[in-house]
Amino acid sequence: MPDDSPSASDRLPVLVSGIQPSGTLHLGNYFGALRQNIALANDERQRDRAFLFIADYHALTTVRDAEALRRYTTEVALDYLALGFDPDKAHLFVQSDVPQLGELTWAFLCVTPTSLLEKGVAYKDKVAQGLTANGGLLTYPILQAADILAYTAPGRDLLVPVGADQKQNLEISRDTAARFNQTFRPDDPLFPLPEPLILDEVAVIPGVDGRKMSKSYGNAIGIFDEGKALKKKVMSIVSDSTPLEDPKDPEQDHTFALIRHFATDEQRGEIAEAYRAGGYGYGHAKKALLSMITEHFGPARERRRQLAERPGEVREVLAAGAQAARARAGEVMAEVRDAVGFLNP
Ligand code: ADP
Ligand code: TRP
Repeated sequence: MPDDSPSASDRLPVLVSGIQPSGTLHLGNYFGALRQNIALANDERQRDRAFLFIADYHALTTVRDAEALRRYTTEVALDYLALGFDPDKAHLFVQSDVPQLGELTWAFLCVTPTSLLEKGVAYKDKVAQGLTANGGLLTYPILQAADILAYTAPGRDLLVPVGADQKQNLEISRDTAARFNQTFRPDDPLFPLPEPLILDEVAVIPGVDGRKMSKSYGNAIGIFDEGKALKKKVMSIVSDSTPLEDPKDPEQDHTFALIRHFATDEQRGEIAEAYRAGGYGYGHAKKALLSMITEHFGPARERRRQLAERPGEVREVLAAGAQAARARAGEVMAEVRDAVGFLNP
């Protein structure tokens, strides 16, 4: 590998994170993942060391409609760019543009006991529901290990910003790195053990029905929902039947749980106070939330509209990102091939 070893004064990690293009991104994805991924990637000190990708290989475990997969993939790219991701500072790309991942996944699978795969949460859930899981779902965490470890850089840690639900997958990535090192490079470990970066203050964002907001529950508010559709969703957030004039506990209310993420400290205090004082109904809170969402994403919505009219520009960003990702993954794969005994060309 070329010597990209950090000096003692520069030990910043490589950042890697992926998001599946399996539906329209929602407020849970924004507060749970996108927002901090963008902030971390745009950090000047991380320049060129953040790899953010759209995990279409992973989405293929569930999406069965080629047109939809293409549309979701493009939408995630638009979302990232509209929300402020700066392609001059970090790499944004589509996972399937990095063919080395297939080869690395295979090498990892060959050192992975099948019993470990069968303990994967997503796989187990599917089987518990009596559904037939495909091989992609069974091996999903190993592909994830590959798409993290492919961006290994000598002497640097790998940091993976993710939501709390990704803890198990990250543990499997660490185990996989350790097992590969132990098997093929016991004296000179090739891979670092990737570290999850889980932001504690981001609680689970509730959907309109009060369950975790999710693409698959039909309870999501899209980041870029607007107009009537947005209003309808916000107004449908479930609440209890406390009469308007009675005091209410903001901490028990799903609308307030969303408001807290948009409001300034001052606004949050005022609204919580209004809940407790009585005479402030859930309808009032929903109207406040509606205008907060509209305002918060206003500039991004405009940027997204403009970008959508320049698809060539988006494709260029993804192509440049993919090129950087392939270059890094290619260097790592040369070491992997050497370690396992494939003939390097
Ligand atoms: P979904 O459940 O909608 O399919 P994903 O599992 O694709 O979402 O999640 C992508 C990222 O967004 C993950 O890092 C996850 O932790 C985060 N995320 C998804 N839903 C929520 C939520 N309701 N609250 C907080 N974070 C979330
Ligand atoms: N499994 C992640 C999710 O569902 C998406 C993902 C794929 C990912 N590869 C990754 C996240 C690598 C972080 C790092 O949200």
